[in-house]
Amino acid sequence: MPAASHASSEQAPGQPFDVRPFAEKVGAEIVGLDLSRPLNDADFARVHQAHLDYHVVVFRDQHITPQQQIDFSRRFGVLQIHVLKQFLLAHHPEILIVSNIVENGQPVGLGDAGKYWHSDLSYKELPSLGSMLYAQELPSEGGDTLFADMHLAWDTLPEHLRKAVEGLSAVHSYTSRYSHGHNADNWRPTLSAEQLAQVAVVSHPIVRTHPENGRKALFVSEGFTTHIVGLPEDESQAILTELYAHSVRPEGVYRHKWQENDMVFWDNRSLIHLAGGTPDHLRRRLHRTTIQGDAPF
Ligand code: SIN
Repeated sequence: MPAASHASSEQAPGQPFDVRPFAEKVGAEIVGLDLSRPLNDADFARVHQAHLDYHVVVFRDQHITPQQQIDFSRRFGVLQIHVLKQFLLAHHPEILIVSNIVENGQPVGLGDAGKYWHSDLSYKELPSLGSMLYAQELPSEGGDTLFADMHLAWDTLPEHLRKAVEGLSAVHSYTSRYSHGHNADNWRPTLSAEQLAQVAVVSHPIVRTHPENGRKALFVSEGFTTHIVGLPEDESQAILTELYAHSVRPEGVYRHKWQENDMVFWDNRSLIHLAGGTPDHLRRRLHRTTIQGDAPF
């Protein structure tokens, strides 16, 4: 649920803006809204509703500071601090730097964020409600972000898979991709004991109910889900493989091609997402805030 509005923003003048759904089943762009100015309650309610209706909204042409991104994100809830402290923006730990840039031999941000389909922080007891990703430096080619509708995935799931997963839980682990030899490019630093304690494995229902729109959604992903609780390993993997393939069928996917100064805000309870990849010789940098959600049920 969004946090109560700030007293100062209640009285802010309204801003005329359009919500324009994309041709795909998922996503809309919001044009004409200036996030550097306070949003009054009516405008905030429209943005909130668009986020619920379209699951991912794209604010075009934003010119905001890190603090403004944090303040706007906080209107939707408590912000989560990423476990990889080395990639947090200086003086603004609420912002995770997502980047493939290496300076003085050191990565400036998390270079492989989103390399596998996932829902942000699904490995926490309280996974993310939503994430905001703000473009700082974009490559001339590549660098797209893809979003898949997990409500649609559930609604269209074949009967045999519905029966196989209803009422079951799956385990989510932040380190699952560390331990399967997928860290060859060394973007992911070794975690300290303290960091490992912050990302202890959790289990969540495979089918969750969105707390605000009441719809069911599949809640597993190749990025963080390791296995289905209570099933033999081979059966668990066979079902998960089918669920992953079904989740990302083209009819439920929106591919975001970034424009300068885009800020993209998605609902992790409704979608999974994937970073489409950037050629190594091109620079890409974005700033992410992540808003804590509820315990999935
Ligand atoms: C993420 O998974 O949060 C990053 C997605 C991207 O870099 O496109």
